[in-house]
Amino acid sequence: MRILNFGSLNIDHVYHVDHFARPGETIAAHSFELFPGGKGLNQSIALARAGAAIYHAGKLGHDGEMLKEILDKNRVNTDYLEKADEVCGHALIQVTNQGENSIIIYGGSNKTITEDFVDSVIRDFGREDMVLIQNEVSCIGYIARKCAERGMRIAFNPSPLDEELLKSFPFELVSLFVVNEIEGHGLTGKEETHEILDALMIKYPDSAVVLTLGNRGAVYRDKAHTYTHGTYDVEVVDTTAAGDTFTGYFLGCLSAGNSIPECLRKASVASSLAVSREGASSSIPTMDEVDKALHTLRYNPYKG
Ligand code: RIB
Repeated sequence: MRILNFGSLNIDHVYHVDHFARPGETIAAHSFELFPGGKGLNQSIALARAGAAIYHAGKLGHDGEMLKEILDKNRVNTDYLEKADEVCGHALIQVTNQGENSIIIYGGSNKTITEDFVDSVIRDFGREDMVLIQNEVSCIGYIARKCAERGMRIAFNPSPLDEELLKSFPFELVSLFVVNEIEGHGLTGKEETHEILDALMIKYPDSAVVLTLGNRGAVYRDKAHTYTHGTYDVEVVDTTAAGDTFTGYFLGCLSAGNSIPECLRKASVASSLAVSREGASSSIPTMDEVDKALHTLRYNPYKG
């Protein structure tokens, strides 16, 4: 199975701070670094590192050459990347000493994806393939409808969740949701883990859901099965892209034929390793690192 990721490509501007800037406050950062990022790019790299045949479709800004280079270096197919006459999507990220982050994104070139561009990409994909979408590029409702018409399965990470998405996205077409608690709450209005899962299964009975719960673990549910998995002990340095690493590894392992419990296990190890390192895509481990860590990291049971 090939995976087509219609995803964002961002340049992350990362500032280390003592605390997030409050309204009206000016604070000085301890350090500043540029990293390749974007939920789309991060997930493509995690998919590639998990062994998937991954094709990234998207729009780069005129300043985005380094983003293509990092995808190429990681063996992500970049035949469906185009350049837009715009600045690249970018993110302003504050990271605290505790590794927490606060992110502002500017869509830039990611928002220049058009229906014509989507049509020109998806004619090369079909029912054997899966499309992965997040909410950082334009036309995602159109992408979902057209891919569904071609018989492709749809994996959706509805991040960041906003009102426009809730109003207009065809959620009923999704085969696999990967959501965190905030997104799960936004989609269902529910707070508790089991309530979110029950509500999603009532609304979308033919879909599967992976709900990530940060340092409490993750749970998979479809109409016949529920599987849970805990987390691994690491020193938290930067949580940026932990969710992207989980999503990419889960799908990558699934596409390689692993069982759901094995996909959860590898995705959990990979995202634990990612939070122990700085940056977004640069924090994503290789499969070798994941395999080694499976035997060395201390496991904390699921606490849903
Ligand atoms: O999920 C982390 C990503 O969110 C960052 O890389 C940033 O670019 C934003 O898209």
